[in-house]
Amino acid sequence: MKPFYITTAIDYTNAPPHIGHAYEKVLADVMARFQRAQGREVYFLTGVDQHGQKVQKSAEQAGQSPEDFVAGVTSHFTALWQQLEVRPDGWAATTDERHKRVVQAMLQRLHDDGQLYKKSYRGFYSLRQEQFLTDRERDENGEFGPQWGEVVEFEEENWYFRLGQHVAWLREFIRSHPDFIFPAHRAAEVLHALEGPEQDLCISRPIERLSWGIPLPFDPRFVNYVWFDALSNYLSFAGYLGQECGNADLPAFEPLWPADAQIIGKDILVPAHAVYWPIMLHALGFSDEQMPRLVVHGWWNVRGAKMSKSLGNVIDPKLLAATFSGDGLRYYLMRDIATGYDSDFSDERLLMSYNKELAGGLGNLLNRSLNMAHQYLGGVVDWSDHDDEHNQALRRTVAEALPAYLKAMNGWGIDEGIAAAWSVVTAANAFVDATKPFMLAKDPAQGARLRSVLAHLAEALWHVSALLDPVMPTAMAKVREQLALPLPDGFRIDQLAWGVLPQGHQLAKPTPVFPRIDPASLAPPASA
Ligand code: ME8
Ligand code: MG
Repeated sequence: MKPFYITTAIDYTNAPPHIGHAYEKVLADVMARFQRAQGREVYFLTGVDQHGQKVQKSAEQAGQSPEDFVAGVTSHFTALWQQLEVRPDGWAATTDERHKRVVQAMLQRLHDDGQLYKKSYRGFYSLRQEQFLTDRERDENGEFGPQWGEVVEFEEENWYFRLGQHVAWLREFIRSHPDFIFPAHRAAEVLHALEGPEQDLCISRPIERLSWGIPLPFDPRFVNYVWFDALSNYLSFAGYLGQECGNADLPAFEPLWPADAQIIGKDILVPAHAVYWPIMLHALGFSDEQMPRLVVHGWWNVRGAKMSKSLGNVIDPKLLAATFSGDGLRYYLMRDIATGYDSDFSDERLLMSYNKELAGGLGNLLNRSLNMAHQYLGGVVDWSDHDDEHNQALRRTVAEALPAYLKAMNGWGIDEGIAAAWSVVTAANAFVDATKPFMLAKDPAQGARLRSVLAHLAEALWHVSALLDPVMPTAMAKVREQLALPLPDGFRIDQLAWGVLPQGHQLAKPTPVFPRIDPASLAPPASA
């Protein structure tokens, strides 16, 4: 099987990361870890989008060179990925010389192939969105709405890509390849956007207006316009044209391509990823079978409102991870949203998910189970030959959780995968209530039953730790440390079966994996 090639959007380095950035990268990291646990080789690429007008402007405002400014902001992203245990295999920074060489080689190819031409254009330009506006962008009053910011009229010579030539192909491709976009209902949006008149794409800016970009190799008075430069990161950092460009240290392209999952937010599907990107690939000679697969996630809002600097409601993931741990935040971000849909960020729900579910549900179960095992049995797993309907019911729940988990995770239902793992936690807590091992321990005649109950609990906990490992890698490793059995080398989650803990296995001592957080110790939530 080909390696699983997974990418994310690359983040603009004009401001530090917010919770939306954290969500997307954690989602990709969870999927990368899950695929590895299924035995797939994985190449996980993420990075930063460092060129463009916004960055140039922000650097100017900060009184810094774009290089220094970008280095500073980028360090906030890399520090956050450390803190959140996001562990990519490749780092796509668009100022990387290796990337620049590939972008230039691609542009040269398209130019030699007659796909690019130069023309003069007079029109209305949105400074905020960095694009010329057409009549399609006018509202019912014939105005350009406030979302476009300041709009100015001017004439400019630029380079264009013959996008329009390929629109008919794209329409047909999208209709005949329902797998191209996940969730599938988003394809309708794209087809709708393709209904208008076919237009070419401006791919340059004169150097006087934008110097912070990659120069066009055939006309260095222009730099490449951001989207083209940004989208091609998925190719350049996967080793495309690597030989020709002298990029020997990047992966070999052939085995990796096409990307199995390109994770993006819903705002950059149309037109960038669903129109420009496949057409760019098509124009470069990629076949329909070589098109990547897009995975489109929804947005995190805050109290129903879009996050924005002006509303002062931007949620900083660094502070949250400092309080709730990287894994505590990962857990919340994965459980409280369904892939493809929007969700609302809530301090209360984050605290509840940590204290009630992680500390109270899972953490407490682990503590109780290990404490009893040490108190009554010297921490030894002794399967005994007792069996009854309580044991059987718990084993059945564990057995049923796995296929439900695998199906959910393979279909991007991370929240449902978590719920499947949680069915075991809930069943195990109910199992303790029903079997009352603390009562059994008082009655010497119940020894065999007690031993089987505590062995079942330890085993069930190991299974939970394996299922939740992609979501909370550090915390679940700690759980297995206390169960004194790490994931074996080459562990396969899809082959997990009852009976992991051997007869006579010695358990370690419990220490809280998720120490309870006192709500009174938290700063009051930022008001929206
Ligand atoms: O768009 N909730 O960068 P970006 C969830 N550089 N996701 C969100 C979000 C939110 N509130 N806000 C943003 C760019 N995102 C380009 C991408 S790719 C070749 C170039 C997501 O920093 C957004 O949808 O504005 C996008 O997928 C990612 O964060 C980066 O956004
Ligand atoms: Mg954005």
